[in-house]
Amino acid sequence: MATVPTITLNNGVQIPQLGFGVYQVPPAETATAVQTALEVGYRHIDTAQMYGNEKGVGEGIRAAGVDRGEIFVTSKLNNGFHARDDALRAFDQSLADLGFDHLDLFLIHWPLPGIDVDFVETWKAMEEIYRSGRATAIGVSNFHAQHLGRLFAETEVRPAVNQVEIHPYLVQDDLRAFDAEHQIVTEAWSPIAQGKVLDDPAVVRVAERTGRTPAQVTLRWHVQRGDVVFPKSVTRSRVEENFALFDFQLSEDDMREISALDRGERTGPDPETFNHVPR
Ligand SMILES: NC(=O)c1ccc[n+]([C@@H]2O[C@H](COP(=O)([O-])OP(=O)(O)OC[C@H]3O[C@@H](n4cnc5c(N)ncnc54)[C@H](OP(=O)(O)O)[C@@H]3O)[C@@H](O)[C@H]2O)c1
Repeated sequence: MATVPTITLNNGVQIPQLGFGVYQVPPAETATAVQTALEVGYRHIDTAQMYGNEKGVGEGIRAAGVDRGEIFVTSKLNNGFHARDDALRAFDQSLADLGFDHLDLFLIHWPLPGIDVDFVETWKAMEEIYRSGRATAIGVSNFHAQHLGRLFAETEVRPAVNQVEIHPYLVQDDLRAFDAEHQIVTEAWSPIAQGKVLDDPAVVRVAERTGRTPAQVTLRWHVQRGDVVFPKSVTRSRVEENFALFDFQLSEDDMREISALDRGERTGPDPETFNHVPR
């Protein structure tokens, strides 16, 4: 089985560079999907309170019979829980739903810059969770440079990761450089743009040149850029395909051809204007 490289976070914790995402995996199918991913060899699962499937993630891990200590699990604070007490309670609920005594990484899912709870207050709650030892690392998702700048100025713990939308149609090089400059690892969500980039002629050309599939060359492009990725699939053959990234390389020309597809196109909301809080 291929070895997945790890990346060291700013507090010394190691994260596998390739994981398995479970956004839009229906709760009733999540245990099976996670068990399949673990059988294939994945040791990193990315879930969130918002996905409603943390129970399934815990069940899948127990069913696979892989030691909890060998698996890196991330979850994220839901948008309705940004106030301190709500955040602490929601974190406890995540642990209860997963059936764990700790999370490897806990993130603020969205900054929600327009709501009445300032994300700086939310980050201070994240710091409390981190100091309790029940989250081995903490980070953010969908934060831009100005949001991170406020955390640097007003709080103590530096986020370990920033998980943002990145794929060939949205390469986010400025934000990635900002993260790197501040010792924050960038994680790329929707790494194949939910499938949208796979028919792109340039991606297909690189796939033909390397004898790999469009998904594999796109995911390999992320890996060679140094980002963490966790493609989602409920299809076993694709789960296997997306794991086979470490026995080939893209040339500089291949990398450039894929990067040139950037057109600033999002598949998801813009963090500057997204302020949705569930009732
Ligand atoms: N922090 C955030 O705000 C945020 C937002 C979105 C996503 N995420 C995270 O990022 C993860 C990945 O993003 P995503 O789920 O949005 O999208 P994605 O991984 O870019 O794409 C998933 C879609 O592509 C299909 N697919 C997967 N592998 C394929 C392959 N080899 N060939 C052809 N099609 C393939 C899947 O279909 P099937 O499942 O039907 O096989 C699914 O429809 C999520 O699961 C979640 O963990 C985070």
